[in-house]
Amino acid sequence: MAILNDNPLDNPITAKISIIGAGNVGSMAALNLLVQGMGHITLVDVLQGLAQGKACDLEDACGVLGIENRVQGTGDINKIGSSDVIVITAGVARKPGMSREDLLNINSRIIFELSSKIKELAPGAIVIVVTNPLDVMTYLALKTTAFNTRRVFGMGLTLDAARFRGQISKELHLHNKEVEATVIGSHGEGMMPLPRLTVTRGAPLDRMADANKVAELVKRTKERGAEIVNHLGSGSAYFAPALAISELVKAIVTDSKALMGVSAYVSGMYGINEVCIGVPCIIGKRGIEKMVEFELNEAEKTALQQSAESLRKMYKLLPVF
Ligand code: 2OP
Repeated sequence: MAILNDNPLDNPITAKISIIGAGNVGSMAALNLLVQGMGHITLVDVLQGLAQGKACDLEDACGVLGIENRVQGTGDINKIGSSDVIVITAGVARKPGMSREDLLNINSRIIFELSSKIKELAPGAIVIVVTNPLDVMTYLALKTTAFNTRRVFGMGLTLDAARFRGQISKELHLHNKEVEATVIGSHGEGMMPLPRLTVTRGAPLDRMADANKVAELVKRTKERGAEIVNHLGSGSAYFAPALAISELVKAIVTDSKALMGVSAYVSGMYGINEVCIGVPCIIGKRGIEKMVEFELNEAEKTALQQSAESLRKMYKLLPVF
């Protein structure tokens, strides 16, 4: 799908967005973007027929709403050529009893292959990694593409913050909009919902609820993904992850400069070096426009550094390095 202007991201309608992986997360993200009129979408899946079938269904969805159909489905990875934004959702989802980290071996091969293709076919793209274990797969995609660190990041924290917000608003009987939730760290075992930096009606959460309740809300947030996996029995969450993806893509193609948590390559901030981990960033048409350093207390900083160290240990397990 040709892009006619010099800087396609100046016009959200013409940005070429490729979504690799047409499973629940990828196809739902495509639906969200279509409904919001965000770009031309290429949905790709290695499983022949899957992306094509989902694209037909999405075309019909556009018919229901009377909006322009801007999606194509394909089994041919070469169709991602000259994408502006690429979202990688391909890979295996965890099963009940598995951690996100358990997927490292199988998914790292997939991410390595896809990243090599992206490097060759779409050297100017902004790449959003969604495959788990999120932070390690983001690092792998960054190293394999060798793209600028602004242009490769992972979507995990936006989802985690939404989950924290949802748990808080339910517990404290607030509207979601009254809660500004902050989560940093890895999208996995090292996830750090931060009550001190979470604001409810203008006050920090740790002043709005007692310590036991706060601890329970943090725990529920950290375990939310596993809770969903356990209920479903097979597959993992997709409504909220897909919306978090489309919000992130929207921030890029509309150049909104939104403050969002993403897994970014951190080197120097928070006493962390050369690790992809979830931190707050300003997102715009160049990808990560700015990394924002929140003022952490010593305990939070130490926990974040430990989270980074456990991610770094996993780099050694990557079969491709
Ligand atoms: C989740 O947290 C699958 O990692 C995803 O639901």
